[in-house]
Amino acid sequence: MPTVTYVEADGARHVIDVPVDENVMHGAQYNNVPGILGECGGGCSCATCRCYIDEAWAAKVGGPASDAERDLLIGADGELKPNARLSCQIAMTPELDGLVVHMPEHQF
Ligand code: FES
Repeated sequence: MPTVTYVEADGARHVIDVPVDENVMHGAQYNNVPGILGECGGGCSCATCRCYIDEAWAAKVGGPASDAERDLLIGADGELKPNARLSCQIAMTPELDGLVVHMPEHQF
């Protein structure tokens, strides 16, 4: 099963198995990883699941998948950071095995 490393703002790391086709937000929620809230349940409407893709993975994951995701990220950060994503919008694939995502200091 692919793994995702979730890195908290203070540097604490959580290496979690996340099944293929599951999204990165659920991977955190189901394993009690702090820092990703996911208040809308993955509906792309809250931005409390935002994360920053590690530089080494940015090209593989790609940019926001939709205008809605882009708008939410701008609303949360005040700008569109190049590596920002909503973790609920990233579905795991075998190619993403080893993905590293960084969490913001806070989601609000
Ligand atoms: S869980 Fe709400 S936007 Fe991702």
